[in-house]
Amino acid sequence: MIPEDILERIKNENDIVDVISETVRLKRAGRNYSGLCPFHNEKTPSFSVSSDKQIFKCFGCGEAGNVITFVMKTKNMNFPEACEFLAKRANIEIQQSTNSSKEKESYGRLYKLNVEAARFFFSNLQNTKEAKAYFIRRGISEQTIRRFGLGYALDGWNSLMNYLKKRGYTELDMLSLGLVAKSEKNNCYDRFRNRVIFPVFNTQGKVIGFGGRVLDDSKPKYLNSPETKLFNKGYNLYGLNFAIKNLKERSLIIVEGYMDCISLHQYGITNVVASLGTALTQGQAKLMRKYVDEVIISYDADVAGQLATLRGLDILRKEGFSVKVLTVPQGKDPDEFIKSNGKEAFLRLVENAVPLIDYRITRAKEGLNLKENEGLIEYIKRITEILIDLDPVEKDVYIKRISEETKIKEQSIYDLFNKELKNNMKNSDGMNTSQEFRQKLYIEPSYVKAERTILHLMLVEETFEYITEGFSKDDFIREECKELYNLIIKFHGEENNLKKIENNCLNSETVKEWINITDLKILQQEDREKFVKLIEDCKKEITNFKIEELRKDIMSKIKEFESKGMLEESIKLAEELMQIEKQLAK
Ligand code: UTP
Ligand code: MN
Repeated sequence: MIPEDILERIKNENDIVDVISETVRLKRAGRNYSGLCPFHNEKTPSFSVSSDKQIFKCFGCGEAGNVITFVMKTKNMNFPEACEFLAKRANIEIQQSTNSSKEKESYGRLYKLNVEAARFFFSNLQNTKEAKAYFIRRGISEQTIRRFGLGYALDGWNSLMNYLKKRGYTELDMLSLGLVAKSEKNNCYDRFRNRVIFPVFNTQGKVIGFGGRVLDDSKPKYLNSPETKLFNKGYNLYGLNFAIKNLKERSLIIVEGYMDCISLHQYGITNVVASLGTALTQGQAKLMRKYVDEVIISYDADVAGQLATLRGLDILRKEGFSVKVLTVPQGKDPDEFIKSNGKEAFLRLVENAVPLIDYRITRAKEGLNLKENEGLIEYIKRITEILIDLDPVEKDVYIKRISEETKIKEQSIYDLFNKELKNNMKNSDGMNTSQEFRQKLYIEPSYVKAERTILHLMLVEETFEYITEGFSKDDFIREECKELYNLIIKFHGEENNLKKIENNCLNSETVKEWINITDLKILQQEDREKFVKLIEDCKKEITNFKIEELRKDIMSKIKEFESKGMLEESIKLAEELMQIEKQLAK
């Protein structure tokens, strides 16, 4: 732990506006600054930095934090690293006090814990026939199993937990890495059960998390470790540690799934990483930038895959990559394709990957009839959007090509282009002064707002007690909220409690939630009764969400029993469901 006073100095002497200005162009807008959000892709600024409060917030994607978490998120650092970076920047000495070496020790212990877990999973796999058979059936060799450290989580509630306890680890440690979860009754149980396990490594080859896949087609297909002190999902890519080992060219292929990545590696195509089904982040782009200049995206050809393809790609282009898109034919994923067509065939797909712009231009034609004027005009409009931030030379090349293709005069395309450009400018002008700017563009489920409101009201002296008496830590749904509940109680009544709470947040997600909580605008309530009503409404919102989740869970179990012909069980559950629906109706 870095001592509180040093932490305060680090924050005081690194003005958030200065630090962010080093990587984001900020413009003054009233009391705040604004610019294009570095955490999502946008053309009009919705990212705002407050000099007074020393925080940032994005109204587009919901990202929020302070100067330390900004550095963590954009530079792919953990908390101590970010502090060290900022301390250096401001010439502050962090004494290597016993405290900070303790912090290192605790990281060391957590990494060891993950390795222990990975070893346990690995040996389970070797000792469990069906699990081993699963990988073999999918064409994964023994050598690959070893190389990737693949494993199996036993089909019980406590096997990993008991194993780790015997080795001297506490439930708290296991919880903090998401290896176990806590039930409503506060009992810990293994997160991964009866799943084959894929350990996730960072670039140094340390185990930072796990993914687990069911052996059949039940749901959810994959379960992953949550965000933890060690596992920052937006700053890691599965397989990158293997890919950079024998990297021959400065080029990486990005696939979606664990299996795609492993399978390609096994066939000897080793410059492959997996994004694990989520849109790429700037943190991931920056990470890859250290190793390669070219990125080839190979996602499923289904619609979701295409959307994902398009979303992550601008982030890559902005980081200066040459971006290509590889299309796997016949709606297969890379794993299926290489298994049935072999390495050479896949390498041909790599060779035929098309530059991002070409890929987009092809897609812009979809659903349009270019033989009709309307279709043609729409096509040019779409093209304009695609070409808008290319450099002039590139623009000319593409416009020439499109003119040849459509037989529209180049000049006419330029004219249309410029008209569109002006329209776009108009839309993005007057930025931040307009009311629109303040509008939230992302949506959050209502229980999130409810949790936030309750925590906000815990900071109000009049309602603190009322809440803590009737609502406990485990009534919250999100982990960050549980953590903050404890922190608010811990520092209640102390001087500078808001700062202390912020400084004691365990990770950047908690800081983000904290900033949203303190920034919440709640209408001034004149009397206690109205506060009480608000709190009770929030509680109801949270309960409803939980019941709704439970209902969904039971529904899917009923379906499963029915499909297996287990009528008695399904009737029992149906009765339970009726009870729940009654409760919901209330
Ligand atoms: P896919 O559904 O394409 O799975 O999800 P896959 O990798 O081809 O898996 P197999 O071949 O059926 O075993 C792509 C990735 O999205 C994430 C996983 O990382 C997966 O590899 N994912 C998918 C989840 O995290 N959870 C899910 O329930 C499904
Ligand atoms: Mn697959």
